[in-house]
Amino acid sequence: MTEATAVRSNQAALKEAAAEHLFMHSSPYRAIAHDAGKRVLTEGKGIWVTDIDGNRFIDALAGLWLVNVGHGRAEIGEAIARQASTLAYASSTTGTTIPAIQLAERLAAMAPGDQNTVFFTSGGSESVESALKIARQYHYHRGEPKRQKIIGRRGSYHGGTYGAMSVSGTRQVTDPYHSPFMPGVLHASPPYCYRCDFRQSFPGCGLLCADQIGQMIEYENPKTVAAVIAEPISASNGIVVPPDGYWQRVREICDKYGVLLITDEVINGFGRTGKMFASEHWGLVGDMMTMAKGLTSGYVPMGGVMCRPHVVEAFEGPNSLSHLLTYGGHPVAAAAALANLDIIEREGLVENAARMGALLLEGLNGLKSKHPCIGDVRGLGLIAGVEVVKDRATKEKFAETGPELKVLNESLRRRGLLTRAGTIINLCPPLCISPDEVQQIVDIVDGALGDLEQSAGLA
Ligand SMILES: Cc1ncc(COP(=O)(O)O)c(C=O)c1O
Repeated sequence: MTEATAVRSNQAALKEAAAEHLFMHSSPYRAIAHDAGKRVLTEGKGIWVTDIDGNRFIDALAGLWLVNVGHGRAEIGEAIARQASTLAYASSTTGTTIPAIQLAERLAAMAPGDQNTVFFTSGGSESVESALKIARQYHYHRGEPKRQKIIGRRGSYHGGTYGAMSVSGTRQVTDPYHSPFMPGVLHASPPYCYRCDFRQSFPGCGLLCADQIGQMIEYENPKTVAAVIAEPISASNGIVVPPDGYWQRVREICDKYGVLLITDEVINGFGRTGKMFASEHWGLVGDMMTMAKGLTSGYVPMGGVMCRPHVVEAFEGPNSLSHLLTYGGHPVAAAAALANLDIIEREGLVENAARMGALLLEGLNGLKSKHPCIGDVRGLGLIAGVEVVKDRATKEKFAETGPELKVLNESLRRRGLLTRAGTIINLCPPLCISPDEVQQIVDIVDGALGDLEQSAGLA
């Protein structure tokens, strides 16, 4: 056997083993064997990743919206190794650790407003579950035990665990398998101006989507509603950036009725939108803020819930929080997060996200005149979406599983760009991206839209 053949057969054996033994998330059985979009990745540097066959790609989704500092940061690896070999674990039953305290203090200084105290978790879903439980118990201790209902929004995604799935607005994909959901969950309209539920346009709409939340609270009886949960910018709903005034109105409504507002910054946080937290774009301060992903840039799993003083004060004295996670505040993860934050701050990645994001949006907007299939381009910082349509005037969509979107996906991949593209091409690259790399993304999207239009007879 030549060396090349040996390498190839090793690759084939690995893929076979993966097909047989890896139960892949959100995928059919043996997806790795049958789905050309699924690859075995071996290395990464900056915004680039390489697969086991030696193909290089732009990681235009930063993994899964999280590798904010980019791949291949030895500094984070070293921080992880140092902490793991010094003290690998301590439970909250015993106490805590130095990196967890240092991280908590640093997050308190960074987070919006007076979100001063953090409950650590191992990821986004756990952060959302924790925030929901904290919200319900908060009301209990304040003498309002009937405040149990949660309002989410259609199209939002808050995670895969039971409570997080229940408050997510993704019933169309989860209902057949997982209902009945957590009781007492309601869903409001999203501030999705391109496809407004009320068939209105901003500003003439008067922010009906925000007011609807108030109407729901009124109708349900405010004394039964615990919290509203929403992403400042919803990625899952198609990079929905709300119009000005939306967050101010939602904040006012929550305050009026004594309902807690949970801002889910799991994707938005840590520089993604050109501010450290997306809430800052609107001067928004949630009563709790969930975070994960960019906190460690995915180098190890970690998340958390930032809480304002009035929230944690409900848990003083005998009112201990009825919620415990073995891995919450893991010292190795905290060490990784500290090293990750060092890089974000030292390299000015938040500012770079703002600058490169503006370039990306400009480049994508520039494609509109050339490509009739572009219905809308939107985003903020380095989270952007291109919504493709069959017909710009009617906004008719391509079928999610139809041939045209298959062509689009294959073309993006063939041209060297990894992302998730349905009717929205999601672009969310690492924040260390350069102007030249932004242009490469725009060029690839340009080429792939051309292929889509050809296959759809629009060219
Ligand atoms: C806004 C939001 N919240 C929560 C989650 C769940 O995070 P995780 O997958 O880390 O559990 C996600 C995941 O994408 C998310 O986008």
